[in-house]
Amino acid sequence: MKRIIFLVVFVASISFGIAQTPTDYLPKKFHKERREALRKKMPQNSVAVVFANPIRNRANDVDYVFHQDPNFYYLTGFREPNAVLLLFSNDQTDENGTVYNEMIYVPKRDPKAEMWNGKRLGVAGVKRDLGFTKAATSEDFSNTPIDFTKFDQVFIEQFKDDYRNSERKKGEVYDLVKSFKEKSNYNTTNFLSTPKKRIYELITASPVENAANVAQVIGRAVTVYPSLKEDKIVQGYQNASNDKARKEFQEKASLELNSKSNINIEFLSANLAEMREVKTPEELKLLTKAIRISAVGQIEVMKAMKPHMSETEIQGIHEFVYKKYGAEYEGYPSIVGAGNNGCILHYIENNKTKVGHDLVLMDLGAEYRGYTADVTRTIPANGKFNPEQKAVYEVVLKAQNAGIDACKVGNAFWQPGQEAKRVINEGLVELGIIKNVNEQHSYFPHGTSHHIGLDVHDPGTYGAFKENMVITVEPGIYIPEGSPCDKKWWGIAVRIEDDILITNGAPKNLSEEAPRTVKAIEAMMAKKSVLDDFLLPNLDE
Ligand code: GLY
Ligand code: MN
Ligand code: MN
Repeated sequence: MKRIIFLVVFVASISFGIAQTPTDYLPKKFHKERREALRKKMPQNSVAVVFANPIRNRANDVDYVFHQDPNFYYLTGFREPNAVLLLFSNDQTDENGTVYNEMIYVPKRDPKAEMWNGKRLGVAGVKRDLGFTKAATSEDFSNTPIDFTKFDQVFIEQFKDDYRNSERKKGEVYDLVKSFKEKSNYNTTNFLSTPKKRIYELITASPVENAANVAQVIGRAVTVYPSLKEDKIVQGYQNASNDKARKEFQEKASLELNSKSNINIEFLSANLAEMREVKTPEELKLLTKAIRISAVGQIEVMKAMKPHMSETEIQGIHEFVYKKYGAEYEGYPSIVGAGNNGCILHYIENNKTKVGHDLVLMDLGAEYRGYTADVTRTIPANGKFNPEQKAVYEVVLKAQNAGIDACKVGNAFWQPGQEAKRVINEGLVELGIIKNVNEQHSYFPHGTSHHIGLDVHDPGTYGAFKENMVITVEPGIYIPEGSPCDKKWWGIAVRIEDDILITNGAPKNLSEEAPRTVKAIEAMMAKKSVLDDFLLPNLDE
């Protein structure tokens, strides 16, 4: 009997195509609500055009693993490349009289392509699984009857320009963008790039008496965006010898700003940043899971770490834990740096062959159903902090605690960083690494906090803290070889990074499972690991 039941279930699961894939992605209702929320912010007679990511090539006929554009994913839940979403502020009527206010173009089903590259949802699939009522194939986008020139505003994001011109395939992102440009004012209007527009706005809005301050801002912007150096208005304003000449360039900037393009590349990124910086309960559930997975990874590595291990092997243990929990990816390239390598902030080679007795800085985050953690622990490879390592560690820990305490609703976004910096400067003076708290130094060269979510550096408006934001607090001290201090500190790098939920009460540390104090780390490292007995043959003899 048991066998018959098994057979029936087996046959049924084949014939109904029950795919044994994860079921805890964000529900379609979430994405629909996000689209509604964005539509509410859109002015009358406007359309948002959001492109999916393309596939990027790695080498020859091997591509990188595909990852969806986070804004596109947030609005659609669609996890395939080469698609475009249209969201209208007002109802539209198609040639059959059907009324709609959103539409998606997705790759068509293709049995041959699916045999090589896996299943596609197709038009019927996005209607069934993602809740779109109007959908067509990406190939159809070049024939879309929608005239983008007739809207008062067309919202797009800055094109990424990092995909191939794949003449061979209609419906790929290159082709979608090309069609959009042909059907809109993109190529025909004097459409301003974001930095240029910002500087023109600054020039127009600032009274000429403030020219000296404006000049400083422009000077900084030019170093980041060299194209501004060639801009006649920006340079004319900068080089103007008197207020009368400056006013002339103000007028020119104002004319440029007001010459009508209906294309706007700021609205989407600004409004989606505002939406994405506060997490919904569905998002918090997935983000918390990603963070807890990453904390467990740190715990397992603390138990398994041995001086003979390589940075690569340590990275592998973290990532194995992620996969064991079903996390699809790492949210960013893993950083495992022993000793001086920890001083390289985005060290991703992870190729030191023996971590020895160094401190090992490990900054890794699992990505679970799109949401990424960002957790750093720094631990002594041999299980015990030496006095110098401990002294530096305690300063960073104290700075982090001060930063976390500042994570309260209403506080300014920069407050945790300010608190952490103060504690670090005081600590560096106490240790004799700098002489006074105002001394310029580069032992803590980075910011302390950023949002996390679908991106590891999630977009946000960086205003005051609101309930249900999730941010990192990640102070560090980095003392590379050759630093102007006693040699005993050289090669010590410590970063401690936790993911903090802003609540209406006390801040909640979502990564607290991973030990943070010297005592708790040493106690965890003294524990046995299942990997102690995981021995592989030596292949080098
Ligand atoms: N892992 C990158 C960061 O901490 O911001
Ligand atoms: Mn971070
Ligand atoms: Mn990090």
